[in-house]
Amino acid sequence: MAEAQLHDFPSLFSLDGKVAVVTGGSRGLGLSAASALLQAGASKVFISSRKAKACESACAALNAQPNLRPGARAIPVPADCATLDGVKQLVAGVSAHTDHVDILLANAGATWGEAFDTHPDSAFAKVMDLNVRGVFNLIREFAPLLQKRASAEDPSRVVITASVAGLGVGTLGKQATFGYSASKAAVIHLGRNLAVELGPRGITVNSICPGFFPSKMSNGLLEMAGGAEKLAKGNPMRRLGRSEDIAGAVVYLTSRAGAHVNGAAIEIDGGALWQRGQLDVSKL
Ligand SMILES: NC(=O)c1ccc[n+]([C@@H]2O[C@H](COP(=O)([O-])OP(=O)(O)OC[C@H]3O[C@@H](n4cnc5c(N)ncnc54)[C@H](OP(=O)(O)O)[C@@H]3O)[C@@H](O)[C@H]2O)c1
Repeated sequence: MAEAQLHDFPSLFSLDGKVAVVTGGSRGLGLSAASALLQAGASKVFISSRKAKACESACAALNAQPNLRPGARAIPVPADCATLDGVKQLVAGVSAHTDHVDILLANAGATWGEAFDTHPDSAFAKVMDLNVRGVFNLIREFAPLLQKRASAEDPSRVVITASVAGLGVGTLGKQATFGYSASKAAVIHLGRNLAVELGPRGITVNSICPGFFPSKMSNGLLEMAGGAEKLAKGNPMRRLGRSEDIAGAVVYLTSRAGAHVNGAAIEIDGGALWQRGQLDVSKL
């Protein structure tokens, strides 16, 4: 039976020799993803964020991991992805080390919490500039490098870090995240459009949609919501997200295992999104 004869199963999730760029790779979800890419066999992973020092120390930590492929390296390239100049600077920095890119993780993001009546125009614009416009600029400017080795058999990959806030309603009230939630919905739909546009060029575009993962960005909101323990209890899986959850999804989408997944938005939230509005008749 041909169906039983999977081609080289041991390498299905391997990223052997792949070249990757991770924006917002200096900490949080981006750093977890970068670690996964390297441990899955990537040969070069470029770590980008605005602060040069943060990129350097992330690379030092990544390069100290014991189980990397010989010669594999994380390389810091600081840049501000909210501006077109910053994105171009990032492409130039990466191009100094490689003539192609196989994997682009558009992960850098920002949020802003403020009540509806006082929600500032400047905050809305700032969030949109990085989370939507910046992601579009990033993918467009990296497209030539992504196309270099791309093929239908072995496509290059773009993974956007969106959020479940872009699928359901985000945070409301005093620290409402209107711009953030709208930006994540927008970037998920941008991903679907680019999946169809870039698929014929041999590039897949998918989004991951994390729920709550403790990080610098989410810790304030976690505290306001009553703390990590309380939020974990309310999750169908009785926990928050952790590094491995991001690692698994990113390696799946960027390896041969995920080569035919295009335009998807994968929730990584323990199912929390789907329990909103849940009717528990025993409590009526
Ligand atoms: N944590 C969660 O619960 C959660 C849930 C859903 C989605 N997400 C999404 O996951 C992504 C990563 O968030 P995180 O939780 O890991 O947050 P984080 O720990 O605050 O990390 C954000 C990263 O983005 C970088 N960054 C911020 N502004 C930037 C800019 N203008 N240009 C380039 N890099 C910039 C930061 O470094 P610098 O300060 O050095 O620039 C940092 O490396 C975001 O897109 C976020 O919306 C997070």
